[in-house]
Amino acid sequence: MRRPVIAANWKMNKNTGEAAVFVREFLLQPIPGDVDVVICPPFTAIATVLEVLRAPGKEKVARENVRLGAQDLHWEAKGAFTGEISPFMVKDAGCDFAIVAHSERRRFFGETDEIANRKVSAAFTAGLIPILCVGETAEERDGGSATQVLERQVRGGLAGLAADVVSRMVIAYEPVWAIGTGRAASPADARDAATFIRKVVAEMYGSAASEGLRVQYGGSVDPGNIAGFMAQPGVDGALVGGASLDPVKFAQIVDYRR
Ligand code: PGA
Repeated sequence: MRRPVIAANWKMNKNTGEAAVFVREFLLQPIPGDVDVVICPPFTAIATVLEVLRAPGKEKVARENVRLGAQDLHWEAKGAFTGEISPFMVKDAGCDFAIVAHSERRRFFGETDEIANRKVSAAFTAGLIPILCVGETAEERDGGSATQVLERQVRGGLAGLAADVVSRMVIAYEPVWAIGTGRAASPADARDAATFIRKVVAEMYGSAASEGLRVQYGGSVDPGNIAGFMAQPGVDGALVGGASLDPVKFAQIVDYRR
């Protein structure tokens, strides 16, 4: 049985004070103990989120289920790469996960599948679990090439890894047209994409790897539609942007069986 994993991608939002307020409020909400919750703040708020998570309190949530993730990382361990953050720095800062190749990284910062692959590999080397983002644009979908795009992104992002490593990772299916638009994909679309992603991974690394890895859906997930996605076989969680900025909404998403 794969454990559900629901991640908050804050993107370029929240200063340290806002991050602290979020975590305090989130911890007061009813949160199930059998879901991995991953909060991905901007780098500048990682320490604050960790500090609040570790502070004593009488919240209802099992804190050990709430983990930290970075929104990105560089693939090198250290060196002359001004402005970049290495996977070891991210791990040292308290993160267990790292988002890799989010569509905004691909679109605004030119990240290729080759860069995604280096980052996935580097994340594992540093002891992080990568959340590799894949997904087609509206034009690709309308042009009928959605599955080719997914296959290219999965094969490119996962090239040259070990099967046991792949079985521990997370792949987020995030159709670009659904991100931040309020137009989520249908649960059936998410299920079909998850099935297809597992088929490609099985071809690459065998069925143990493809059955072990967790597939998230991302793109306009909110408290009203999360249950429909989580009900799909093969969909193991969600990557949540806009709705993850509000602690009550994000808690409702995590508590999707409510
Ligand atoms: P959204 O973003 O939930 O605001 O659509 C999802 C994402 O970009 O990960």
